[in-house]
Amino acid sequence: MDKMLVHGGHRLSGTVRVSGSKNSALPILAATLLTREPCVIHHVPDLSDIHYMLQILSHLGAQVERASGTVRIQADHILTTAPYDIVRKMRASVCVLGPLLGREKEATVSLPGGCVIGDRPIDLHLKGFEALNAAHRVEQGNVKVFAGRLIGGTANLRGKLGPTVLGTDNVMMAACLAEGTTIIEGAAAEPEVVDLANFLNKMGAKIEGAGTERIIIEGVRQLHGAEHAVIPDRIEAGTFLVAAAIAGSEVTLRRCAPEHLGCVLDQLTTAGFHIESAADRITLRSNGTPSPLHITTEPYPGFPTDMQAQMCALLSRANGTSTIAETVFPQRFMHVSELKRMGAEIELEGSTVLIHGVSRLSAAPVMASDLRASAALRLAGLDADGITEVNRVYHIDRGYESIDEKLNALGAQIERVKV
Ligand code: UD1
Repeated sequence: MDKMLVHGGHRLSGTVRVSGSKNSALPILAATLLTREPCVIHHVPDLSDIHYMLQILSHLGAQVERASGTVRIQADHILTTAPYDIVRKMRASVCVLGPLLGREKEATVSLPGGCVIGDRPIDLHLKGFEALNAAHRVEQGNVKVFAGRLIGGTANLRGKLGPTVLGTDNVMMAACLAEGTTIIEGAAAEPEVVDLANFLNKMGAKIEGAGTERIIIEGVRQLHGAEHAVIPDRIEAGTFLVAAAIAGSEVTLRRCAPEHLGCVLDQLTTAGFHIESAADRITLRSNGTPSPLHITTEPYPGFPTDMQAQMCALLSRANGTSTIAETVFPQRFMHVSELKRMGAEIELEGSTVLIHGVSRLSAAPVMASDLRASAALRLAGLDADGITEVNRVYHIDRGYESIDEKLNALGAQIERVKV
């Protein structure tokens, strides 16, 4: 198993290009199952999660061709059962349920278990399918959803922890081919949901309201092939901005969407960093120690939970005490104990962390527990005293395209070693 060695103390400067969004690309690739015609998707990042999704689509019978960032998929004849061996590796596999149900009126996928960031139920996805006249049953670890006729209905997908992103995607995809009109209340408003809706509309779907908490889908008889470019990854962009804040002089992001990063840019500005953004660029100038912040993670357009761990790394060096309250995944704090091993002073109180800034972190061997924690530990290592050893690096390969190469091109010194 590989590990990463992050040599602390190297300044970052220059320009970095942001990749296509993982969380947009996954459901968009799944949506190609809704038509027999070929679809072409551009800006698909080269990540292990994407690789798993393409494997699932191939298993289901789709022809998949990939040339660098472009994927061509044609799902002429398809199966309706996704294989456990691949599905278990990636929770987002659950988003093939919606398109399979829409097209074939039945779908079987292994039931996702819990994961390190907490319990990951799919009750809201199933509630949405029920509103479309579909039933479900759980057998041998799989969930099977099925409907004689898929009929539009109204579903409120807001759970006690807020709206569900993949649940909204799933119900929206199935509803495209349902009879009549579907209304999703309490819908997730994330840019990735909007990107999926835009792609579905290019395929001939009739979706309005994506990006608000009420989405209306008028069912159509069939969808056709379409071509689409995935939006830039706002979490990758945010991660590079935090890297620049921690270890940068001046770093510019290219091909990013500043309008998707409002809360993150506001917080970094409040922390004292100078930010300039234009149409598809953001430049951050770092002037050293951040001021403390008080952040609450929330569904979009609030501060993203997927940036919480990276902010913990940044605020570990603030000149005062910061707080971050996690409301989306209240148990998502596995990175805290690892940051503490690097000298961070962090207290966990329920689902809020109190971060007492220290002047510098010190390098230590640390263990990445999940994708964003893995990014946070790398970022912490950029300015730590010594060489930080990050173990379990496979997490980062799930969601960041060439992150170490990109950081190294900016001046970092990160090496991957085989153990
Ligand atoms: C997506 C993102 C993930 C991000 C998360 C929240 C993808 C591939 N992943 O995950 O990176 O962190 O949104 O922005 O897009 N919940 C229920 N019942 C359900 C579904 C969810 O209670 O049926 C709860 C979850 O446990 C969580 C909250 O709702 O507490 C939000 O989860 P959800 O938006 O569904 O996350 P994902 O779509 O899985």
